[in-house]
Amino acid sequence: MIQALRAEGHIVRCLVRRGSERDLQGLGAIERIEGDVLVRGGLDADISGCDAVVHLVGIIREQPALNATFERVHVQGTMNVLDATVEAGVRRYVHMSALGTRPGARSRYHQTKWAAEEAVRSSGLAWTIFRPSIIYGRGDGFVTMLARMLRRLPVVPVIGSGRARLQPVPVEHVAEAFARSVRMATTEKQTFDAAGCDAVTMLELLDIVGAAVGRRRVRKVHVPLGAMRPLARLLHRLPGFPVTPDQLRMLEEDNTGDPKPFLSTFGLTPPALAAGIGHILA
Ligand SMILES: NC(=O)c1ccc[n+]([C@@H]2O[C@H](COP(=O)([O-])OP(=O)(O)OC[C@H]3O[C@@H](n4cnc5c(N)ncnc54)[C@H](OP(=O)(O)O)[C@@H]3O)[C@@H](O)[C@H]2O)c1
Repeated sequence: MIQALRAEGHIVRCLVRRGSERDLQGLGAIERIEGDVLVRGGLDADISGCDAVVHLVGIIREQPALNATFERVHVQGTMNVLDATVEAGVRRYVHMSALGTRPGARSRYHQTKWAAEEAVRSSGLAWTIFRPSIIYGRGDGFVTMLARMLRRLPVVPVIGSGRARLQPVPVEHVAEAFARSVRMATTEKQTFDAAGCDAVTMLELLDIVGAAVGRRRVRKVHVPLGAMRPLARLLHRLPGFPVTPDQLRMLEEDNTGDPKPFLSTFGLTPPALAAGIGHILA
């Protein structure tokens, strides 16, 4: 995101939590400001002087011991940033949501992303909202993790039927769209599904990633959701346990959308999913 913003000619000021500075290693000349979106005090001073705010903060797993719940990070964190943006006199605001966000969503992740979107829409700011499907890129937490599993295991576990569909989008496209939208008045008050051109089931995705890592045939074993749910309820707080009850709810539903407005507005040509994945795993 930082590189994409710079490529569009923006000067980037990053809010960085104490202890996370190493994530910005090698990025050289950017302004870094220590802070936390859960701490409202001082955020307006951090934002003051900027032309736009790009709000990306989100979590996929709650950590109640660290007070990082979906409600706090997605809803309260967004409200803090919106409030500080208004207070700092900044008008333009670009927001990271997620595909599947809707009123009455089943998962807490999507419910709280929806509440955050509602706060954005009623902020009075010149907002743009992006809702990505799964984002993939070199070293990501999903496709790269599947590739690692496929390289090591003779048989790959699939939770549930694996028939829910995803529409993975390259990280570069999401970053480019965010960076371009900052100066595009036509994208104000617009919400974009950020998705790729191929909607695939988890079973198909495993075959695509398998082919990219040289597996001619991917052998899969299904773990029934009925068995996984109680286990996830019991064990999801253990480090390394692969899935939370909330993620199980999301795994059961399609995560697809209409990428046409996203692609045409930002002039993006999506690679075929197999080519995109082959590229990042090469
Ligand atoms: N990855 C996907 O496939 C995907 C799909 C759809 C939507 N999204 C959304 O995209 C955003 C980024 O996701 P990601 O996958 O890139 O996750 P990520 O790597 O964990 O990034 C989340 C970022 O938020 C920061 N953060 C968390 N709590 C914070 C706080 N209280 N104050 C300030 N910063 C805080 C983290 O900082 P630290 O380094 O300090 O932890 C980290 O830099 C999220 O909003 C997510 O919901 C992601």
